[in-house]
Amino acid sequence: MDKNLFFIDCDPGIDDAAAILLAGADPDAEVLGISAVAGNVPFRHTLANALSLSAFAELNAPVYAGADRPLRGEPLTAEFVHGANGLRGHTLPEHSLTADPTPAWDALYAAAKAHPHKVTLVALGPLTNVAIAFSKWRDLPTLLKKVVIMGGATHTGNITPAAEFNFAADPEAAEMVLRSSADLHICPLDVTERSYISKEELAQLDSQGSPQARFFAAVMGDSVDHYKDDYGVEGAILHDPSAMLYALRPALFTAKRCWGAVETEGVYSRGRLVTDAFSDASENPTCTLVYDVDRPAFAAAILELMQAYQ
Ligand code: BDR
Ligand code: CA
Repeated sequence: MDKNLFFIDCDPGIDDAAAILLAGADPDAEVLGISAVAGNVPFRHTLANALSLSAFAELNAPVYAGADRPLRGEPLTAEFVHGANGLRGHTLPEHSLTADPTPAWDALYAAAKAHPHKVTLVALGPLTNVAIAFSKWRDLPTLLKKVVIMGGATHTGNITPAAEFNFAADPEAAEMVLRSSADLHICPLDVTERSYISKEELAQLDSQGSPQARFFAAVMGDSVDHYKDDYGVEGAILHDPSAMLYALRPALFTAKRCWGAVETEGVYSRGRLVTDAFSDASENPTCTLVYDVDRPAFAAAILELMQAYQ
């Protein structure tokens, strides 16, 4: 059977790291490339972490450097969740991978050109690289099979009252991507905050014993107190793994077609995802909004996938 082809754009980031490990664990997935963008931590860290993760997830996929800042304004970071190095101080094994000299936006286009309508782009960070790629290569949105995005929130944000981190970090880029003709699948906080793994499930993951399972359990386990205090969740919320599992196992999720856009001007709401999914549904649909998950099946799929590592 032909494998499902993926290209991952990310800003690792503890949950980006967990998502990349899931892609590496899926025997049906082939990752053609990983690109790094500034986001959770400054770009030098997201690029270094993407390289380490390509090796650690046993993908050894080429890693491409992208944008070190958003289209407008200064980088927004989230060290309070991800730590100074993006992995809450955890380190990954030494490796020999170096960044490919091709810019991220050209590498994504080359992957899509080589496999027309076969490549799913999974975007786990601010959408700067994707927006640059879409504006440089006008046929790229429809050359891709689909674009799965972790970003936005239809209720409240997590970095401002109105906005989720990835969309807040580069609202112009997010709006450009949402206006594109790509087959867009958006995984906002609505679904990702329901995609948590309990302490008991993290312990089961740790007991699998592989370095990758133990790292996933440790790096996500560190944030359990943050999620309990701030969200009342008994476990670790897995934003980027939620989007990655939607790409790998869509049957675990509930989604609906709707219209969506991103606020770029608001006094209080810059970076907000605006959608008619839960209001009047009056516009022509432009995207698929993923809004719920079978949480026990989600956690079980993670435990099952991660057994691929020895
Ligand atoms: C998103 O923001 C980042 O902090 C996470 O990696 C995730 O992509 C959640 O809002
Ligand atoms: Ca991320």
